Amino acid sequence: MEFFLDTASIEEIKHYKKLGLVDGVTTNPQLLSKEGTDCLEQIKKIVSIVSGPVSVEVTCTEPHRMVEQAMGLASIAENIVIKVPASTEGIVVAERLKREGIKTNITLVFHPSQAVPFIKMGVEYISLFVGRVEDFGLDNTPHIRTLRSMIDTMQSPTRLLGASIRNPDYLVTAIADGAHAVTVPPACWQKVYTNPMLSQAEREFLESWRRLPPLVRKKYDSLTADMEVAQNAS
Ligand code: E4P
Repeated sequence: MEFFLDTASIEEIKHYKKLGLVDGVTTNPQLLSKEGTDCLEQIKKIVSIVSGPVSVEVTCTEPHRMVEQAMGLASIAENIVIKVPASTEGIVVAERLKREGIKTNITLVFHPSQAVPFIKMGVEYISLFVGRVEDFGLDNTPHIRTLRSMIDTMQSPTRLLGASIRNPDYLVTAIADGAHAVTVPPACWQKVYTNPMLSQAEREFLESWRRLPPLVRKKYDSLTADMEVAQNAS
């Protein structure tokens, strides 16, 4: 299972890399524009610190220009994966890029039917959008299981990527329902670990601990310091 970080921020990538949550990165034009800097330079910075797949999206809309742009982007680094929209133009582009040996991540998949030709041609990733569908009052989570089953039935090497993961429930559903990969924005990881139950329990445990007479907890509390002294001495 791959965990991608959905961001174009170097600071965020460095932070989550330390937590082991960056097997790769996904960007899109909106995420790159948020950085307010030269986008090509930003992509170069990202690939210099991430060795796994880094998805970057085409911004042209005509197939031949999309292909040219994709080839230029792919030449930046070997681990670049090109995001192509799941449209009829996207089918033409993905087919051409496959012939060129360029990996694609088919984006903007809102319904499994959009993915059929791409699964058939065996693209690298299909990004099923979950959160963006909720904006229209609909639940796209059941389609995670459907798409995984389609990929397995069609015996395709395509990997299902859970995208637009905006809350902890979407994250666990994507994992449990068979996504091969998920792309998680830092804001979602923050929601996971700013759980008020976690903070309250942590506070209560420490308050109880500090009520113990200092002499009773001294040995336990000083373990770290003792270990540091022992390590420095060796
Ligand atoms: C990832 O590849 C997508 O671009 C991203 O997950 C979209 O997320 P959003 O719908 O929350 O913007």
